[in-house]
Amino acid sequence: MKIVYDASDPWPQYLKCLNELIKDNCAKQLCEIGGGAFPSLSLEQIKEQNLRYTILDISRTELERAPEEYVKVEADICDPKLKSEEKYDLIFSKMLAEHVIDAEVFHTNVYKLLKPGGIAFHFFPTLYSLPFVINRLIPEFLAKLLFNLFVRNDPIVHKRFTAHYNWCQGPIKKQINNLEKVGFEIIEYKGFFGHKYYKKIPILKSLHKLTTRFLMCYPNAYLTSFSFVVLRKRPNPVVKSRLRIMSRGPGPV
Ligand SMILES: C[S@@+](CC[C@H](N)C(=O)[O-])C[C@H]1O[C@@H](n2cnc3c(N)ncnc32)[C@H](O)[C@@H]1O
Repeated sequence: MKIVYDASDPWPQYLKCLNELIKDNCAKQLCEIGGGAFPSLSLEQIKEQNLRYTILDISRTELERAPEEYVKVEADICDPKLKSEEKYDLIFSKMLAEHVIDAEVFHTNVYKLLKPGGIAFHFFPTLYSLPFVINRLIPEFLAKLLFNLFVRNDPIVHKRFTAHYNWCQGPIKKQINNLEKVGFEIIEYKGFFGHKYYKKIPILKSLHKLTTRFLMCYPNAYLTSFSFVVLRKRPNPVVKSRLRIMSRGPGPV
């Protein structure tokens, strides 16, 4: 498992990382969870690279905003009864993980939808970055107000969804254990320090810059603002558990 920290902007890195994962894993069957109105990959790229790309989203309204040529599935990734005929080489999400109510079911469903050896990649905001702690603690009407003030640029394009931040943390031990318990091998966990939410408040912005620099020298997994996590569905989990039993040695006589 590779744990890394970064203070650069995660947004442009997301697409780069996604494209590298497609290429390195020769992934052809892809599923974006919560792709909604803004799928990560363009129709041109899908055609050019001969990809089978499905967007799965809980909201019909959001799915309808994406061009109709996309393959769309209206479903809740937290539905314990979720089933799919299709299995995927790569399942990914951007700004979805913080919205799911049950993170364990979310990751378990992603695990089930992957082919053995398949890859999951998630990009999400993390606690305990101050803006996200505030967003989680304050009442919904206040969160909406702050969102309009600091985040939303275009009221039609950017809608607000309630965030819960379950299993949305940097590479802390508990988070790693949770994902491993689902059955994943953690390939890479990247924590990003810093964010741009203070750009309208110069004093906070300068202080935040200093803190981010400090955190890059002395990283603390609890204080990341965003994370990328790359997971692999272990190709044969049954064989692994048998090996673990065998290596315990002879039982009591
Ligand atoms: C903040 S938006 C992100 C949309 C897109 N990924 C982006 O980055 O622009 C969150 C999306 O996740 C979807 N979503 C929320 N909970 C979901 C769930 N349980 N299952 C599937 N999709 C969900 C919402 O409908 C919405 O489209």
